[in-house]
Amino acid sequence: MTILVTGGAGFIGSNFVLGWLAQSDEPVVNLDKLTYAGNLQNLVSLNGDTRHVFVQGDFGDAALVQSLLARQQPRAIVNFAAESHVDRSISGPSEFIQTNIVGTFTMLEAVRAYWGALDAPAKASFRLLHVSTDEVYGSLAKAEAAFTETHRYEPNSPYSASKAASDHLVRAYHHTYGLPVLTTNCSNNYGPFHFPEKLIPLMIVNALAGKPLPVYGDGQQIRDWLYVRDHCSAIRRALQAGQPGETYNVGGWNEMPNLDIVHTVCALLDELKPRADGKPYKDQITFVTDRPGHDRRYAIDARKIEQQLGWKPAETFATGILKTVQWYLDNQAWVTNVQSGAYRDWVAKQYGAQPAA
Ligand code: NAD
Ligand code: DAU
Repeated sequence: MTILVTGGAGFIGSNFVLGWLAQSDEPVVNLDKLTYAGNLQNLVSLNGDTRHVFVQGDFGDAALVQSLLARQQPRAIVNFAAESHVDRSISGPSEFIQTNIVGTFTMLEAVRAYWGALDAPAKASFRLLHVSTDEVYGSLAKAEAAFTETHRYEPNSPYSASKAASDHLVRAYHHTYGLPVLTTNCSNNYGPFHFPEKLIPLMIVNALAGKPLPVYGDGQQIRDWLYVRDHCSAIRRALQAGQPGETYNVGGWNEMPNLDIVHTVCALLDELKPRADGKPYKDQITFVTDRPGHDRRYAIDARKIEQQLGWKPAETFATGILKTVQWYLDNQAWVTNVQSGAYRDWVAKQYGAQPAA
């Protein structure tokens, strides 16, 4: 038995691969294009481990995916591969359309052909789990109830629109062809190996480098934060016990305004690695121009996965954020490594005219 993971060298994918092989000997074939966001350093602890087979390639390359499926005969696929950064989708949407929509479609076609040729028992037990986001539901007003699985789709950014389109394709392949799919829609993740273009790792890395901490707009946008290893355990559980054709919302019951997140990170760094001048890291906070079309609030109602599959997060925000900040302090070499030329170009483009550069 083998599973195929796409995008398994990215932030969540690499945590998933490491978590999978920590609790099972079932091999993982990891197909990743290694874009700027894919990093084999995340998987260095698996060097020499024959249970992990890494293949560099595009999940939208039909011939490659067909031959991989024929050779490896996976019993399940977990699809993480995507362009994932909202700000990049605003400054350059085309890659998001190509990867998240066309790539997912091409992979679905290859999977449909592979699955269609399996014998009856293998066909019945096969699963494709598509990893998606709460952003497909759009933005909530302050008093509105959290997103349930039946909330209307109302994506607002090129990223969330492309993820919504991929969710619809996955759904259609179940309804039309009977492909046994599962979709998980998760809230904001944080934890080890998070690329420092996203809020929490950017704040940690900038704080330690003595740089400004760029908060968009008034900093009162709300996200629902989940420790990445809890997201991975939810995916494992959905793969094991989820009903084909169903979607499951995954979240941490942990809504927080961005400014509170930044203050929490600063306070932890004050304790764990005080500034040389004795001043608080929060002095580095700088309010910058808001993200265009910025969603005000996301919140996940995670009762379905809890009640139907018995999944709950293990970490609170207090325990998860402490582990995360400590991980970045302990892994400064990883940070230096990912701050490649491409990363520096992005920072210059995104924050160039503003003090965070
Ligand atoms: P990431 O950007 O860190 O990683 C994406 C990975 O996909 C990278 O390793 C990249 O090299 C790979 N990839 C990109 N295009 C590819 C292609 N064409 N073929 C093969 N591999 C390709 O993203 P992430 O934060 O780990 O997110 C993973 C998935 O989870 C995405 O689908 C994202 O939409 C979803 N998600 C993310 C979050 C979050 O908070 N980060 C929350 C909910 C859902
Ligand atoms: O909700 C799930 C989504 O969470 C995932 O689908 C996406 O892949 C993931 O990137 C994340 O999207 P966000 O846009 O919510 O994450 P990001 O870390 O980019 O931003 C979090 C919040 O912080 C958001 O309100 C914008 C704000 N922000 C972000 C950056 C990078 C800032 O204020 N300053 C910044 O420099």
